[in-house]
Amino acid sequence: MDGNGRWAQRNGLPRIEGHRRGAQKAEEIVEWCAELGIKYVTLYTFSTENWKRPEEEVKFLFSLLVQMLHEKFNRMMEQGVRIRFCGLVNQLPLEIANVCRDFEQKTKDNQKIQAILALNYGGRREIIDAINKVIQNNINQIDENTFRNYLYLPDVPDPDLVIRTSGELRISNFLLWQIAYSELYFTEVLWPDFSKEDLLKAIENFENRHRRFGGL
Ligand code: IPE
Ligand code: MG
Repeated sequence: MDGNGRWAQRNGLPRIEGHRRGAQKAEEIVEWCAELGIKYVTLYTFSTENWKRPEEEVKFLFSLLVQMLHEKFNRMMEQGVRIRFCGLVNQLPLEIANVCRDFEQKTKDNQKIQAILALNYGGRREIIDAINKVIQNNINQIDENTFRNYLYLPDVPDPDLVIRTSGELRISNFLLWQIAYSELYFTEVLWPDFSKEDLLKAIENFENRHRRFGGL
């Protein structure tokens, strides 16, 4: 979900306004994905690198997250949205970590779609954490399928499609292990402007690709 700041700047608004619009968009995306029958959508909400931002902005982002979760709770229950978090949630300030755990718990039986928020997430960190868990279990030989069980959300399938908005052509430490064979889609559209048509366009583009997973 990239481009909130630039969206705000282009519209003569403070950066936080861009984040507000971006958060609204996140909710819309989850609903659109649910309508389309998509079972999992992971939103890169806050990376382990985002701590480098000014403290004010970081504080705002977390307060926005908590506010959104509360505001949208009834709607998520109606729509069958299961909320999960992927990342070092336990290393967040306790009250935020508690809110996250609480929403995971309250939505855990919802079946329509899983909306996974990558929060305080870094792909390298996830791999390192997995390796450390392997070591702690005294395992000295491992294969790919077993390794997967040590990642943060082992039951979540690898993404078919990764969409990055705002014209940046990078992965930025997102789900490094899981995206090995994902299709990548980049668009110039800034996240707050990303429309249902843009989503359909990305999916249509995905459908026209021939996934060979290394075969012929
Ligand atoms: C959103 O957009 C994402 C978050 C990290 C919350 P940015 O804040 O990165 O927007 P730009 O890149 O400055 O436009
Ligand atoms: Mg950015």
